[in-house]
Amino acid sequence: AIPLYLDCDTGIDDALALAYLLAEPAVRIVGIGTVSGNVSAERAASNTLALLELAGRTDIPVAVGATDPLHGTFHGGAPQVHGKDGVGGIGLVPETSAVVAASAVDLLRDLADEWSGQLHVLAVGPLTNLARFASTHPESVSNIADVVVMGGAFDRRGNVSETAEANIHNDPEAAAATFEAEWPITIVPLDITMDHALTEADARQIEAIQGSLPPQLAAMLATYLDYYEQGVFGIRQCALHDPLAAIIAADAAEVLREDQPAAVRVETEGEHRGRTVAVSDVALASSHDRRIVLEIAHPAAATLITALRSYDWP
Ligand code: BDR
Ligand code: CA
Repeated sequence: AIPLYLDCDTGIDDALALAYLLAEPAVRIVGIGTVSGNVSAERAASNTLALLELAGRTDIPVAVGATDPLHGTFHGGAPQVHGKDGVGGIGLVPETSAVVAASAVDLLRDLADEWSGQLHVLAVGPLTNLARFASTHPESVSNIADVVVMGGAFDRRGNVSETAEANIHNDPEAAAATFEAEWPITIVPLDITMDHALTEADARQIEAIQGSLPPQLAAMLATYLDYYEQGVFGIRQCALHDPLAAIIAADAAEVLREDQPAAVRVETEGEHRGRTVAVSDVALASSHDRRIVLEIAHPAAATLITALRSYDWP
């Protein structure tokens, strides 16, 4: 199984991604760091610990990361999408476990060095921790095999502004630095995640899976489904942003279409702040691969539900 560090802002789709990764035999989560985005980094950590307790996986270290973006302060999250607590108001509280003393940035450094060259990173929140890691531990960057990022919108409209996606918009300077750092990056943007929805019927299937965690996932999905039903989709289905990125990170998807730009830039000024731009000019090329996944063969919902069903949840 590939060793994976997960960086997240746990959130409802983050919770689904985490559950998928726990159930996916191709992956072994070796550490989790949290960042402010959907909720504060502290709340994201407490949500994550509670989810790991339900899954019987308190062996996985969880570290709190950046509360504030590189510039400015945390704006307070996305309660309209994920509920005030980030998990649809279902009241998840860890009972026995606690975060580790290290910050997410130091946990990532320790894991990168321990797994030297083999550690895979999946970031499904703002990129503050990754940018801080790259700037404070540049000697450890080459110890990371690759980075998969859920974020950005290229030929699709944004979800927090006309042109910007939330994870990038929450810390554009960090995204810019992450996309410039010397590691291979695969981006999973709204261009594809908006095409992979989970329906009410799918949520009922998750609810019926044996174990402590699946019914809790279904309970929190009610809030996420409400948001999408009242907003962009107009029907009762929600976008599987983070689970889709997790499926890509697990190498469990057959990629049908991708873009391989020379580099990816992020607008940090003006009305397009947070917009991601694929650059084709080879003179500006990054020294490592930049891939933007645009189409995969199978619906993410089916891959997610199959994995959740196949796992022996406590
Ligand atoms: C991304 O932003 C967060 O709200 C979600 O968890 C996902 O990571 C979608 O734009
Ligand atoms: Ca997220």
